[in-house]
Amino acid sequence: MRDPGREAGGGHGPGGPEKPGGPSAVVLRRLEAHDDRSGFSCGQPDLDRYFHRFAGQHARRRVSRVCVAVLGREIIGYSVSAPGQVEATELPAQVARRLPKYPLPVLRLARLAVALAHQGHGIGRLLLRNVLREAVALRDRHGCVGVVVDAKSEAVGYYAAFGFRRVEVVAGQIQGETGATIQLFLPIKTIERALGPGAGGCASPLKAT
Ligand SMILES: CC(C)(COP(=O)(O)OP(=O)(O)OC[C@H]1O[C@@H](n2cnc3c(N)ncnc32)[C@H](O)[C@@H]1OP(=O)(O)O)[C@@H](O)C(=O)NCCC(=O)NCCS
Repeated sequence: MRDPGREAGGGHGPGGPEKPGGPSAVVLRRLEAHDDRSGFSCGQPDLDRYFHRFAGQHARRRVSRVCVAVLGREIIGYSVSAPGQVEATELPAQVARRLPKYPLPVLRLARLAVALAHQGHGIGRLLLRNVLREAVALRDRHGCVGVVVDAKSEAVGYYAAFGFRRVEVVAGQIQGETGATIQLFLPIKTIERALGPGAGGCASPLKAT
């Protein structure tokens, strides 16, 4: 299983050195009004279109949290997350067993994308780890039983390598610009174990060191 808690800068191949422009040079922060989003391309037209046309409004109106990975002045990746809820019956049985039978709070990762030229350098992992840290912080403040990802079918393998498993979440499913997605879930206990102690104490903006 791929480890979301592995520190940035550790490289991607087994024991391999970090590639130029890899995670340790990257800053994570909220999308800001002055950011130039027009040149971003991850190779998925709907994710690019969302970022070019809607991410600015969503960030400004705080509909969701739009986090960007920035290298120099270039945006090389983004994530979109927002609180949501799931029914206990929609969760894996071993997670649901000890939970009440009413809607439970989760953090939803609605979109994750890395610019084509920067894919495979650990930027996706960095953005994902940041979302997982937000989930732990959310749990500490208001409650959160895990992270639900609205994954495109071709990206399911990426999340599965981090331990995400398929669930049948209906309520709060995010469609629209990205079309139908497959819901995957990672329990908060697994997240906390992967990130280690004090995982929820993240500040923003985050320097990826
Ligand atoms: C999927 C995506 C976010 C991953 O980000 P990234 O920065 O390229 O990935 P990372 O560098 O963190 O991880 C690289 C690892 O993931 C694997 N990987 C990348 N995309 C994958 C996929 N679609 N399925 C399975 N594994 C994948 C790589 O083989 C690599 O494996 P390794 O660590 O064993 O060498 C990025 O490739 C992307 O934006 N793709 C296009 C848009 C997309 O599909 N977004 C997800 C929508 S839900």
